Amino acid sequence: MSRERVSIERGTSEERSERWAQPTRRASTVEPTQVAIIGAGPAGLLLSHLLHLAGVESVVLERRSREYVESRVRAGVLEHPTAELLREVGLGERMDRVGLVHAGIELRFDGVDHRVAFDELVGKTITVYGQQEVVKDLVAARLRDGGQVEFDVTETAVHDIDTDAPYITYVDAHGAGQRLDCDVVAGCDGFHGIARGAVPAAVLRVLDRTYPFAWLGILAEVPPLHEELIYARHALGFALCSMRSPEITRLYLQVDADETVEEWPDDRIWEELAKRLAVDDGGTVNVGPVLDKGVTAMRSFVAAPMRQGRLFLAGDAAHIVPPTGAKGMNLAIADVSLLARALPALLRGSPDLADAYSETALRRVWRAEHFSWFMTSMLHRTGDDFDEQLALSQLRYIAGSTAAATSLAENYVGLPFA
Ligand code: APR
Ligand code: PHB
Repeated sequence: MSRERVSIERGTSEERSERWAQPTRRASTVEPTQVAIIGAGPAGLLLSHLLHLAGVESVVLERRSREYVESRVRAGVLEHPTAELLREVGLGERMDRVGLVHAGIELRFDGVDHRVAFDELVGKTITVYGQQEVVKDLVAARLRDGGQVEFDVTETAVHDIDTDAPYITYVDAHGAGQRLDCDVVAGCDGFHGIARGAVPAAVLRVLDRTYPFAWLGILAEVPPLHEELIYARHALGFALCSMRSPEITRLYLQVDADETVEEWPDDRIWEELAKRLAVDDGGTVNVGPVLDKGVTAMRSFVAAPMRQGRLFLAGDAAHIVPPTGAKGMNLAIADVSLLARALPALLRGSPDLADAYSETALRRVWRAEHFSWFMTSMLHRTGDDFDEQLALSQLRYIAGSTAAATSLAENYVGLPFA
């Protein structure tokens, strides 16, 4: 069970009242914590769990409801180091029971499949397990261990990160203004969160790249086409055949960046998938009821540094990748695996790991940024004939060269966490 958040009207110092001047709302001060975490995605929840294992207290503040975060359909591939970490910290039971271990992927182009065999090339595998399943496991573990996760909070704001007594103000699910004092703030609030904005504009350096296409994703109640993922390059555009279980398929189509789901009725999606996934020796796409449909924008984005004073950014709050390399959730988890060592050390008076956090995390982030850009460029149609020939040449190289396939495999299964 979650510990009840106590909302005590404590005798706040004048200085503190001044710092949170909210004339219309009575500010309660909740029990202080060591690490205040904004966002209950994979990054925030896992950080809270890892800190608990390290004996450090935290509170997670989430803007959405528990139901919402547990049902939001996102990515679904766990790298080898991610699955290993989840197992090591007691979160592997359901993943190992229902997750699907894959030893390779298919690259489909020129009407033929070319398998990249991860197990043979690099001796590792990946696990197909939906992000919302990871989130469900994490929420359950946090509540079981008495962790504090507050859902449905609004107006989250970060204060005094350049002092050693930062705090967060927010409005709780009952509409009461709250103030949470802490030693450290972890901004795990995703790309659209508020934490990144607390880093002064003069300090924050943003590098990004947008792509002229997006992914239309569907979840369908139909067995997957193949037991492994199929990444297809086709003259009409990219298609990806993934899955969530032996009965549920996850499929994606490259669409234009400004297209909407309304322009893609189910019949049109199935027809387009059948064309893009066609192979020379026939084969069909399994058609079934569509359970979920959405458009995902494609963007590469890195904000640095990932630390400002007592604020540490992790996951999508600091960086996003196009989904082609299946790296988003894995990068978020790699970041918090670093923070889970750096923050307890900082709180014990050893700042070295915290001081190195941004640089260490960014090295892995940029490797994943490159791989995601590389997979995206190699598999999507831009309409430019030169791009088309470069991409096909790269695909043929991977299909014919063990060295090239090994490089793809090593990146796909995930380089070791630092
Ligand atoms: N206050 C509190 N919570 C917030 C706020 C806010 N101001 N803004 C955003 N949040 C919450 C979001 O509702 C979300 O639940 O922060 C959470 C961030 O979670 P994710 O977006 O899942 O980000 P992260 O944990 O870094 O995981 C990255 O998510 O977007 C995918 O592909 C991405 O798989 C990757 C993973
Ligand atoms: C998914 O299953 O959602 C998925 C798989 C592979 C990707 C992206 C998404 O590259």
